[in-house]
This record gives sequence, structure tokens and C-alpha cells, in this order.
Amino acid sequence: MNKLRMDEVDVRGKRVLMRVDFNVPMNEAGDITDDTRIRAALPSVDYLIAQGAKVILASHLGRPKGKVNAKYSLTPVAQRLSELLERPVAMAKDCVGEEVRQQAHRLRDGEVLLLENLRFHTEEEANDQEFARGLANLAELFVNDAFGTAHRAHASTAGVAAYIPAVAGFLMSREVDVMGRALANPERPFVAVIGGAKVSDKIDVIRSLISKVDTLIVGGGMANTFLRAQGFDVGRSLCESDKTDLAGELLELAKENTVRFLLPEDVVVAKAFDNDAPSKVVPVSGIEADDQALDIGPASVAVFAGALREAQTVIWNGPMGVFEMPSFAGGTREIAKAVAECAGVSIVGGGDSVAAVEMMGLASAMTHISTGGGASLEFLEGKVLPGVEALQER
Ligand code: 3PG
Repeated sequence: MNKLRMDEVDVRGKRVLMRVDFNVPMNEAGDITDDTRIRAALPSVDYLIAQGAKVILASHLGRPKGKVNAKYSLTPVAQRLSELLERPVAMAKDCVGEEVRQQAHRLRDGEVLLLENLRFHTEEEANDQEFARGLANLAELFVNDAFGTAHRAHASTAGVAAYIPAVAGFLMSREVDVMGRALANPERPFVAVIGGAKVSDKIDVIRSLISKVDTLIVGGGMANTFLRAQGFDVGRSLCESDKTDLAGELLELAKENTVRFLLPEDVVVAKAFDNDAPSKVVPVSGIEADDQALDIGPASVAVFAGALREAQTVIWNGPMGVFEMPSFAGGTREIAKAVAECAGVSIVGGGDSVAAVEMMGLASAMTHISTGGGASLEFLEGKVLPGVEALQER
């Protein structure tokens, strides 16, 4: 990417404020259930420590809406980070203010301080300039390594860059480079697999990908809206009736662009949204009025996997069915395997498809797994991400 990276500037001995995305899932007891995002930031944190920088980390956790709420404290994250780094990580009581400023200024070379949840202040999401200046006052250099939050124009992702030099961290840089290259200059055939529940969430990404890919595969709940647009009866399956015209337009657009648009040929149906409900495979023309399509069927898997096997570039976002229920996880599992077997570049983005890949132990077989859900979608839509835009040009 054309933005300065932190190893291209002098960080030695400097107080560095690094925005990370430590918005990790936690259970009711407050235990971190997936620390992928913390691990993903380690190369950047390790580098700063090795360079003798004073490392000040800032993140949000959840959506506490501007109020202090112990449930959203980053304290468990500081503990986990400390275990991973095998060194102490101090936890600040807040993210701005005189006490925090003094704590940051007392840091010695190589020490690490994690600020408390940025979103305990409404000013963070409002991109308030005074708040951004308060964050900037903690440090001499700003590093943004929070790709997962780069689609938000917040004080800690965009505003702060107005006050101190701002550069990219390693994770940010890798995310933007890998996905940017795939979109701008893909090895062909280029195949995108889009799934998930709703077409409405992914209209822009589908529209944008139609101008770039050779084959577009659509599965998951959203495929039903396209099937309805083609005149199939989808019974009681998830379907956005108000989006069928739009789905029809996207099918037309694909035709105009000579993009192969693959939809399921068969589906796994059940009469109830229940893992234990009896299920069967039917062609999409055989869905009964009281059926719910909950996964793609074997014929669809064969066609989709065939296209994926030939691909040189694959982008996958969204599951093929209700993969959280083992009875309806088969389609997603087979597609995950096919993406993993693709000889070219394979990129997985979006919380659910990433979770599926992790669950199936296939993460290491992928070229790149994005840490961004919303951010990777907006990137694929071709949008400029505010957190990237704010960084200094190389
Ligand atoms: C994410 O999990 O997608 C990011 O951390 C952004 O979180 P947000 O959607 O609450 O802004």
C-alpha cells in the first residue's frame, strides 16, 4: 500500500500510540473465547518492544455507547496480551486525562500500557477533535494496526492523525496489501463466494465484485432471494421479498459483465429451524411450501467446488448455511475445504466464514484470513476506509 509503514519511520525510544482492534468475543463470565485479534497484533507489538518504543495500546471492546461499563473493560485483554507477550502489560484506568497522560509519560523503553476502552467516551465514535487531541498528547507517533475498525471514522482511527504523524502497523499493511492486490490485479480465474443470511447486507459487495470476478458463487440464506427472483418457490426459507427485484438486477448485471453467477441447484430442507429436525436434500425446484432451506446440497457443493478448484484467486465471505448447527454445516464445511485446496490465493473475510474456517481447522491452509468483518466487506465494496486514508503517504 502507498501508506508509510512503521518500520519505515524511526520508532526507537519513542512513545507510540498504537490503535489495535482488541474487540474480541467474550463469554458471560468475561473470558475471551477467541484471541485471534490479539495474536494478530503481536508482530507489531513485538516490533515496537524490540525497537525500545514505549508502547501505548488503544482499542474499543463491544458497544458500551459512551458509558463506563465493567462488562466492557479491557482488563481481561491486558492479561491475555501479557501471557502472549510473556511480559507485563500495565492497564490504564481510562484512555485520556491527566493521570493517563502521566502514566504514558512514565513508561520506559519497551514497556507496554493498554488504555481502557475508548468507547467509554461518546467522543470516540463522534470523532471529537478535543478527544483526539487528548489521545495524541499521550504519544509522539500514531500507528494504526486496527484493520478491523478501519471502516470507522472515529477519534482513535482517524481524528488522532491530525495531531501526530500517523503510519500503518504490520497487520493493517498486510490486510490492505493482500486484499488490494487480489482486487486490483487478480490471477484468473477469480472466484468470489458470498454467503450469509441477507442480500441487503451484501448488495454493494456483490455489485462491486461483479465488475471484477470471473465467477460469483452465492449461497446461504441470501441465495433464496435470488432463487425467488428466478421464479422458484422457496417455501418458508429466509427470503427478503422486498429485495427480489434487486436480486434480479444483480443477476442481469452479471450477465452483462459475462460473469458466471452460480446459485444452489439443490438445498437441505427441514420443516423447523432446529438441528434435530428431520431434513432432506431437494432440488431448488422441489422446495415445499412449509420447507426451510438451511444448507446447500451435494449437487451445489460439486458445482461450487469445481469452480473453486480451477480458481487462481478466491475471496470468500459468508457461510453457505446454518453452519452453527452440525446438521446444516456440511455445505459450509465442503466449501471451506475447496477454498483451502485452491492452488492460488485464498482470502477469507467476515466473522462467520472466519469462524467456520477456524472451527474446521483449515485456517493455516488459507493465504489470508482477515481480522475485519465490516471492514473487509467495505474494502471489498471498493470503499476508502477512513482509518487507512488518515495515514501518511509513503
Ligand atoms: C468489528 O468487530 O467489526 C470491529 O471491531 C468494529 O466494531 P463495531 O462494528 O462495533 O464498530
